[in-house]
Amino acid sequence: MVAAMRLAKYLAHSGVASRRGAAAIVRSGRVRVDGVDELDPAREITTQHVELDGVPLAGPQELVVYALNKPAGVLSTARERHGRPTVVALIAEEKRRLYPVGRLDAPTTGLILLTNDGELANLLTHPRYEVPKTYRARVDGGPVAAATLRTLAQGIELEDGRTAPARVRLVAPGVIELEIHEGRKRQVRRMCEAVGHRVLALERVRFGSLELGDLASGAHRELSPAEVETLRAQARR
Ligand code: URA
Repeated sequence: MVAAMRLAKYLAHSGVASRRGAAAIVRSGRVRVDGVDELDPAREITTQHVELDGVPLAGPQELVVYALNKPAGVLSTARERHGRPTVVALIAEEKRRLYPVGRLDAPTTGLILLTNDGELANLLTHPRYEVPKTYRARVDGGPVAAATLRTLAQGIELEDGRTAPARVRLVAPGVIELEIHEGRKRQVRRMCEAVGHRVLALERVRFGSLELGDLASGAHRELSPAEVETLRAQARR
């Protein structure tokens, strides 16, 4: 007996998109079930043959989450058309389709998650859930004043609005650690620039409760079910 599953969930568990994204895909007419166009994301699926854009889906996969220490110059994108190195390609042995959870700028190093679990990726990157991320920024501009750290912590005006309160501390001369909840483009670089300290090197050392730890540059490891559940719980809190 094959467990019945709604079509949107079936697509999500096949690594296509988050459940919400999958529902939109179904409504847009890109999915066929047993050779017939299907527009209802709630359609129950058991043993039917499902195609997306004419390509048969293998069906629900076991879900997996990896932590990777992204080297500088590697792109945190799933698709790259110009042959540049990507975080996905660094997990070469994984044949399931992986998506990076959020983005790091190309020069930024450190902790990035990759998964075929579209729902988890959505949960962890959605601004509403505010999973904290911690960065270490090596900056120029001389000694960083205590008042500067306070300004960064309280929130500063950027061209796309004021930043939310952050946790900020100096961990070494010229190295600022910032814990932020938002995921705006180049946010840490822009925050530091705004207070007169250009970022020379940026590394993400923590994602929610998960630490980069001693994972070598370019290396990855699969998260345990307990680590995944902790992350999920953190996003929902
Ligand atoms: N903030 C940045 O400025 N860059 C990143 O890659 C991540 C956060």
